[in-house]
Amino acid sequence: MFFIHLTQFTLYLVAFVAIATLFAIAECFRVRKDDLRPPEPMKLPIIGHLHLMAGYQVPYQAFDALAKKFGSVFRLQLGCVKCVVINGQKNIREALVTKGHHFDSRPNFERYRQLFCGDKENSLAFCNWSNTQKVRRDMLKAYTFPRAFTNRYYSLEELISLGAQSIVESCSGEALTKGVISRSCANIFTRHFCSRNFGLNDADFEEMVDNYDDIFYEVNQGYAADFLPFLMPLHDRNLKRVNRLTHKIRDFVLTRIIESRFEESDPTSEPDDYVDSLIKYVKSEETDLTWDSALFALEDIIGGHSAVANFLVKLLAFLAKEPQVQLTIQEEIDRVLGSKELTISDRTLLPYTEATIFEAIRLIASPIVPRVANRDSFINGYHVEEGTVIFLNNYDLSMSEELWDEPEKFKPERFIREERFYKPDHFLPFGGGRRSCMGYKMVQLVSFGILGGLMQKYTVLTDRPNYTVPVGSLALPKDTFSFRCVRR
Ligand code: HEM
Ligand SMILES: *[C@@H]1O[C@H](CO)[C@@H](O)[C@H](O)[C@H]1NC(C)=O
Ligand SMILES: *[C@@H]1O[C@H](CO)[C@@H](O)[C@H](O)[C@H]1NC(C)=O
Repeated sequence: MFFIHLTQFTLYLVAFVAIATLFAIAECFRVRKDDLRPPEPMKLPIIGHLHLMAGYQVPYQAFDALAKKFGSVFRLQLGCVKCVVINGQKNIREALVTKGHHFDSRPNFERYRQLFCGDKENSLAFCNWSNTQKVRRDMLKAYTFPRAFTNRYYSLEELISLGAQSIVESCSGEALTKGVISRSCANIFTRHFCSRNFGLNDADFEEMVDNYDDIFYEVNQGYAADFLPFLMPLHDRNLKRVNRLTHKIRDFVLTRIIESRFEESDPTSEPDDYVDSLIKYVKSEETDLTWDSALFALEDIIGGHSAVANFLVKLLAFLAKEPQVQLTIQEEIDRVLGSKELTISDRTLLPYTEATIFEAIRLIASPIVPRVANRDSFINGYHVEEGTVIFLNNYDLSMSEELWDEPEKFKPERFIREERFYKPDHFLPFGGGRRSCMGYKMVQLVSFGILGGLMQKYTVLTDRPNYTVPVGSLALPKDTFSFRCVRR
């Protein structure tokens, strides 16, 4: 009896130990698999972690706060969208460069689809990676990154000088507005990419520039509806309105820019401009680009002028508050150039002027366009599932106390070392890798030409002294800062 009991007890014990061991092993595996996924905060039903974004001026500030609690890589469930937030220079480089080919897709937000006539693949910035995108980027390079000392570079230099001149001329009369700056930038872009010049008083051109600015503001907004699709009907009217604007832009591009160029372009000659490159490629045998997609690409790149114009308004708004910075720019220009007119070839001679542009870019802290993982991958050892939306926290790289001395202050000299312009490696305002910004050279060249040309003749004051420059996005609303220029 006792024996039986003992045997039974032993059996129970053995069974218990065996089961416990199995559980322990299973637990061990479970923990290990979970361990590979980035940590996540507690979440709520339906909205997930969306409420954690509330109360911040810029969502990226919420990411900073969460990184302090959960580490440099963490998961968020934003509505129905699985996301991973990546912080820190090393991790961001891993996602953009080392594993750039794992994270080269873009989110499938319904809004992007509607803004690009039902197919986000029409958009240069919001499409997934594809052979077509590679071709589009390769074709653009010759125009957006013109090599120094080539004809294309000198022609752009001339156009930027003319653009700067038209802004300087408008300063003598009324206030300097976003409209004036936008139209001057637009003309630089339409002349450079399309060989088309428009009078600054051409009503159709003016309307086109306003429409671009309106759309630029729209695409730069983040909506809760991107993560909670059942809210989309709330945006129906506005999206329809924006859709009408994109059609008006298409009309302008076809009637005033393309005209009969498609039929007339000679496939055997060298391309004259970006329009010609697109036409030749669409007509060629190896093509995988339709004329319709090519027109979208053209419209996107003309739209780059809105980014530059909004940036310039923010730059001037910073400078209106920093008279000492304006004085230092003016002293540098006077000392180096004397009475010679400034051109973009003087860039290397004027490091403080260039540094001022970068300081404004840093403080605006425009986000890197979100990426999507196109396969299961790893960041900093953490498992990231295919289809996850990736936020790269470049706000932290631009504003961190650890990386910058007094990051809240406007101090161009932080971009100067040994009297030369110097960009720290951790500063990534244009992203990186195969989806990096296609326009950063245009931003640098056009901003330099316009800022330099303006500072050479004028000091800038604002009509709104009690303002702060909104940060976290390049876009400003239509009604915004304007400036008074005082002749030096
Ligand atoms: C100060 C102004 C600008 C800033 C801060 C900026 C920043 C950025 C950033 C952060 C990205 C995402 C990069 C990534 O995912 O790694 C991007 C993409 C892009 N930018 Fe810019 N940009 C500016 C102006 C421009 C201009 C003027 C143009 C056109 C001439 C332009 C064309 C593009 C395009 C086409 C993409 C998408 C590239 C792709 O997805 O393959 N950008 N930009
Ligand atoms: C873009 O790529 C992602 C990830 O690879 C995929 O889930 C999504 O369906 C793709 N979107 C389109 C429109 O092809
Ligand atoms: C603007 O700021 C100044 C000084 O900071 C203050 O005296 C003035 O009342 C403010 N004006 C408005 C309209 O808020």
